[in-house]
Amino acid sequence: MEYISIMKRIKLNNTIVLILSVCIVLYLTACGEAKVPDTQVLEETEDLVVVGFSQVGAESDWRNANTQSMKDTFTRENGYELIFSDAQQKQSNQITTIRTFIQREVDYIVLAPVTEDGWDTVLSEAKEADIPVIVVDRQVNVSDDSLFDCWVGSNFRLEGEKVGEWLHRYFVQNEIDEAGVNIVNIKGTLGASSQIGRSGGLSISARKYNWNLLAEAEGEYTQARAREVMTNLLNKYDNINVVYCENDNEAFGVIEAIESAGLKIGPDIADGQIMIVSFDGVSEQAIELAKEGKISCIAECNPLHGPRVRKIIESLEKGVRPEKFEYVDESIYSSIDSIREIQVDEKAYPITILK
Ligand code: AHR
Repeated sequence: MEYISIMKRIKLNNTIVLILSVCIVLYLTACGEAKVPDTQVLEETEDLVVVGFSQVGAESDWRNANTQSMKDTFTRENGYELIFSDAQQKQSNQITTIRTFIQREVDYIVLAPVTEDGWDTVLSEAKEADIPVIVVDRQVNVSDDSLFDCWVGSNFRLEGEKVGEWLHRYFVQNEIDEAGVNIVNIKGTLGASSQIGRSGGLSISARKYNWNLLAEAEGEYTQARAREVMTNLLNKYDNINVVYCENDNEAFGVIEAIESAGLKIGPDIADGQIMIVSFDGVSEQAIELAKEGKISCIAECNPLHGPRVRKIIESLEKGVRPEKFEYVDESIYSSIDSIREIQVDEKAYPITILK
């Protein structure tokens, strides 16, 4: 597949060079004098690797950082032409975009899928066109693994379990009866790997430690939606003491809802505060809120996939098959310095203490 794609590009570039050369020769002949071709002509003969990137949208700080990482990496200076497309959180837009990439005969398709399901048909079309597909961030659930070359991203279930273990350690240390823990889960986009993994991690911990998972609502990974659903939950329940937000932007909305309801935010749930935990740790705002104690714990989700995808493309260019699944190492942030480490499946994870 890689070989064919490389040959296709070489053939295309040769064609461009040939057409341009003919034009230059005709032009020079017509003028009757030798002229140096202008920079435009030189640029078009560059051997750029064309990457079509279908991005989920711009719903969160994480997403914007991820987009920036791709744009900073796939530059002309680095030898790439990036065709960027924002799907505005709609899978149908992503499918249309991938078909456009196929028509344009891009060298690589990079897909950050909105949800896991529904990719078989369009990825089969990419495979038929011999265009390698690299999946980033969330995963795809396909009937045939050969429909994509590889995936790079986070272990979302592990992220969820890390937060669960951190909460358990906190409750034990502070002698909080875990049967009195009433959690609401503000879920991310339903069907996205990050939502499935983080919600799954919470279910495991809730079952294990006997917490009461009071309610779940979809926050769509956005501040506005999370504020709205949290306001509704506060109207319905008067005993919420922990809010599990599946990203930081949701935590911002939840903070607004809790404060507007005149309630207090913080880890001291024995004293009536509502504790918030979340994911990402990308924006300064989230880190500041964690330092203030308004977000008690954040499991890092690293968005800087540009250089990772570049490495994958470089190895495919050399005909070397990359790892099918590449998980990124991630930290956990908190300003509560009494918990220095947590364990998941007997593996220790240190906590980055924020000061
Ligand atoms: O899939 C990764 C998640 O998507 C990030 O946690 C979230 O902020 C983003 O929108």
